[in-house]
Formats: sequence, structure tokens, C-alpha cells
Amino acid sequence: MCGIVGYIGTRPALPILIRGLRSLEYRGYDSAGVATPGTDGLRIVKASGRLDRLIERVEQTVDDTATIGIAHTRWATHGPPTEANAHPHADCSGAVAVVHNGIIENFSELKLWLEKSGHRFVSETDTEVLAHLIEEYHENDLSASVRAALRHLRGTYGLAVMHAAHPREIVVARLGSPIVIGIGTGETLVASDPSALVGTTRNVMYLDDGEMARLDASGVQVTTLQAAPVEKALQEIQWTEKEIEKGGFAHYMLKEMHEQPETVRSALRGRLASDGGVTLGAFSDLRAALKDMRRIQIIACGSAYYASLVGAQMIERLARIPVSVDLASEYRYREPVMPSRTALLAVSQSGETADTLAALRLAKNAGLMTMGIVNAVGSTIAREVDAGIYNHAGPEIGVASTKAFVSQLSVFLVFALALGRERGLPPDEAERIAKALELLPMQIERVLRSRDQVAEWASQLSEKRHVMYLGRTLHYPIALEGALKLKEVSYLHAEGYASGEMKHGPIAMVEAGFPVVALAPHDAVFEKVKNNLEEVRARGAKTFAVTTPEGLRTLGRAADNALEIPTTHPLVQPILSVIPLQMLAYETAVAKGLDVDKPRNLAKSVTVE
Ligand code: G6P
Repeated sequence: MCGIVGYIGTRPALPILIRGLRSLEYRGYDSAGVATPGTDGLRIVKASGRLDRLIERVEQTVDDTATIGIAHTRWATHGPPTEANAHPHADCSGAVAVVHNGIIENFSELKLWLEKSGHRFVSETDTEVLAHLIEEYHENDLSASVRAALRHLRGTYGLAVMHAAHPREIVVARLGSPIVIGIGTGETLVASDPSALVGTTRNVMYLDDGEMARLDASGVQVTTLQAAPVEKALQEIQWTEKEIEKGGFAHYMLKEMHEQPETVRSALRGRLASDGGVTLGAFSDLRAALKDMRRIQIIACGSAYYASLVGAQMIERLARIPVSVDLASEYRYREPVMPSRTALLAVSQSGETADTLAALRLAKNAGLMTMGIVNAVGSTIAREVDAGIYNHAGPEIGVASTKAFVSQLSVFLVFALALGRERGLPPDEAERIAKALELLPMQIERVLRSRDQVAEWASQLSEKRHVMYLGRTLHYPIALEGALKLKEVSYLHAEGYASGEMKHGPIAMVEAGFPVVALAPHDAVFEKVKNNLEEVRARGAKTFAVTTPEGLRTLGRAADNALEIPTTHPLVQPILSVIPLQMLAYETAVAKGLDVDKPRNLAKSVTVE
């Protein structure tokens, strides 16, 4: 996945395509490529790494008189960020070029089938199957060929296709991954994001899921995937360039928080069935070895560490295997015991965190089996573990992790279900969790709509200097993450505490007006958290509770402020309750006029010790 740009018109396409790719750079990418007509078939130029490398190559090899082309920046999902895996992907004959965002879930089956019928593959990507499918079904009408190919796909796509035999058209389609078409005078463009179009035109048309379109220099014809014509209205983009970059949001952090419903879907897609059945590549690779494991040791840093603390509880509850969690920076130096029959699990968004990598290597050298939950495909940790599960959360730009954290929790729950199913977890319990996870994206959307209430809390907090976060069991790590978020972006001093520990010290801090934020869903420990809230309130604290409808009814005066979130399965609840805490950190930083996306002193990826 990442950025798509396409152009067809009368001007040289290359400068327009490159400018489009430049404006998509902010989304993150690890390789790029472009296809234009050549003397014999299409000419595809690609480069791993920065866009400048592609531009150098393009300048050397491509004559820039072509007036049609498609281009892509890739952020690896299947296969590492090599040149061969960069888009556009071609068929065997070199006549077809495809750029694609999304995930083709059944690509392994399709690849096997296509290889059997003689197609040769040169990349490890899921996208390449599409180029070969179009070759397989090619007929005079390019739209019909693409349509026939798409019938075989399971998964998501936003895509653009060129064909040497159809040099004056581009075919695009959308299912789950955005496609926007730009209409100029005598020229038509396509992109995955309007920011790539505004340099040329502000008149756009958004495809909806299940639609495709044929573009030529004079305009566009939109149809459904079943070829029924669709009338679409043009819209004018009103955003400023800065707003466009962030999809209309004021900050990346806000944009990424709003991407979380989709993040959850991407973490589950193709892995979890409604009946609780789990398909995990990593798991099937290691099934025999995992059966033999007596312990799991998790290592991680920062938010990934807090996600792991929740994950450990999910695994212990569902699979009844003992799990320990260590900060990677501690683990590597504390001379840990590493008994055999322990599986080591490294959790890292970037896959490059120096301490996590060092701790992983330590365990590997000691002979432990290693696994990873990693977002960045092809990253060092992803390459070095015996088997891994990818988050598929897409690039995270905001320094304060939000969607990667939610993705880690979702993946942990799927992993815990997979282990649980192997170890006697009743199928009806697995089914209940799967059903709850299916509803989760919608519930996250609901919580994201509480922005006004959260902003009101933030206006209270922004006046303070210290904040305490309380939670218990699964919500204790969420209290830690909530406090970390607030520290990172608002620079307020915040501490997360297990509410049962409060009387062992932190309560001494409480005085009139001291803010205490409690995670108080109506679960097995609700009464205890409620008591803790009453205790701090009796000493003058100003209390804020994140709670469920049942909790709201019973909290009474314990909460000066209460924010309601939907009730879900107890193991899914923490994924929902972290959302208001992310929003609270964000709104507090905004209320204080701070630069949310670039907090002082912080780096997105800590690749040094
Ligand atoms: C940095 C980031 C955090 C992240 C941590 C671990 O501190 O700012 O957001 O949680 O590193 O990073 P990783 O890429 O290993 O998950």
C-alpha cells in the first residue's frame, strides 16, 4: 500500500506524476516506481528508498514526451521493500502495468494457479497476481479484462492499470482503498489521495467501493464492477494544501486516531472468522513448535510495551500459558533466565527499535524460538524472527503512537485466540470475542464522536501540572498508555497507576483539584475502581471516569466527569477505552497550543540505544 498517481492528457506525464508522488511522500514509503509507454511494451522504472533515487533513474532512462503514465510509492506489506517488490507490477509480456493499494487475501492460491498455467512471477507481492490475471483475461476491452480479473480477488484494492495495447486509457477500481479522479482541461488524473491532484486540478470525483472507471484525456466513465453505468458528481476541493496532506485533519495524530476503525479491520482481515476460527500464517508455520512451548516471553519498548502488558493478559486468559513481559532495554542487561520451551515474542511498530532488536538477538543466540508482531514489513525485526504477524496498520507519522497501539492490541487478541483454540478454549467463547471484534470498528467511530466532551476535559487538564491515571487488570496498562500519551504531547506530568496500589504511595499526592482519570468500565473490578475514585475524591481530587453505560448508572458522585463508551467483551474493552485517552492527550496539547505531531525531544523510531 501507499500512494497512487496516474495521468493521461496532452502534457508530458512524468513531471506531473513525480510532483504527485512528492506530495504523497508525507504518508511514508520505502520504494517507488513509474510506468509509461516504451518503444516495445511499457517502460517501468523503479527504485527502493527515497523518491530522489527514482527521479535519477527516470531522468537517465525515460524520454519525457509520454503523455500517459501511472506511478506509485510503496509501503511494504507483502515482501520487503526491494526494487523487485516496488510497483508498478507487470505481467509476463510486459504489456500490463498495475499499481495497487490494499491487500489481496487469496494471492497465494491465485499465484499457485497462475504459475501452473505458465505465468512467471518476479516479486513477492500480492499485487503481481493482478497483472498476471489481467494478462490471462485480456481481450479488446481493457475495462472488461480488469473486471474479469477482479472477479477472482478476495481482499481490498484501490488500483490503476495501463496496457500497451490500449495506449490512451487508464482503468481504475476501488474496493476498500481510496481512489479519487481529477478532471482537468484535456487531461484526467487519478490518485489515492487528493493531495496528489491539487497541483493540477481541484475538480475531483471520488470512487465508492465496488466502482471502477475508464479514464482518457477527455474525461471518465464510471461503472460498477458489474459494468452498470454510474452517474457521479464532480466536487471542488476546498482544502488548503496543508489540510489536504493530512486528509482534512489538523494533525497526523488526529488523522491516525480516525483511521483506527480501519486499522482494526486490517488487523483482522483474512485472519478471524465470525465463528472465532483463526487463520494466522505465522501460527501455522510454528504450530508444532508452539504446542511444545511452556512459556511466552514478550519484549518491547514504549507503547508497544504497554500493548504487550495487555496482550499478556489476553494470552493467559484465553490460552492459559504463562507470559512474562519485559522492557527490551531491561531484558538485555538483566541476565534473564531463558528456559528452553520458551517462545520469545518481539513487539515493535517500526521493527527497528535498537533495544528490541538487541534483546531479540540475545534470545535467538540462547536458542529460543522467536516471533514478532511488527508493522513495518521487511524491517530488521520482521526479517530476523522465526515467524511474524504483521499489523497492516499502514505508516504511522504522528510521533505519539495511536493506531499502531490499537493494532497491536487487536493482533494480540487474534494471536491469543489462535493459541487458545489449540489449548481447549471453548468455541463459543472464541465466537463471542470474534463477534465483539467485528463490532469494534463501529464502536470506535462512536467514541471518536465524543470530541466535544473530551475537549472540555482537556480544557480542565491544560490548567494543571500533574495528572494521575488509574486502572486495574487489563486497564492498568491502558492507564500507563494514557499517561504516556499525555506526557508525550502535552508535556504535563502524568503517572499511570494500578488502582489497587494507590494507597501505597500515590494517594499522598492528592490535594484539592488534583486530576485523577480512571478507567472504570463496568467489569469484574468496577466496584474496586469506584471505591478508589471515592477515596481520592474524599481528599479533594477532581475525578474523570471513562466508563460504560452500566458504570455510568452506578458511579454516582465518585466521578465529577464521566465519559461513556460502549460495552463490549471484557477482552475487547481495553481497545475501546484507550481511544478517549488518546483524544484527551491530543486535545490537551491543542489547548496548550503545542506542536502535536512533533513533540519536543522525541523521535518516531529509536534506532540507537
Ligand atoms: C518510540 C516511539 C513510540 C514507540 C516506541 C517503540 O519511543 O515514539 O511511539 O512506542 O519507540 O517503538 P517500536 O517501533 O519498537 O514500536
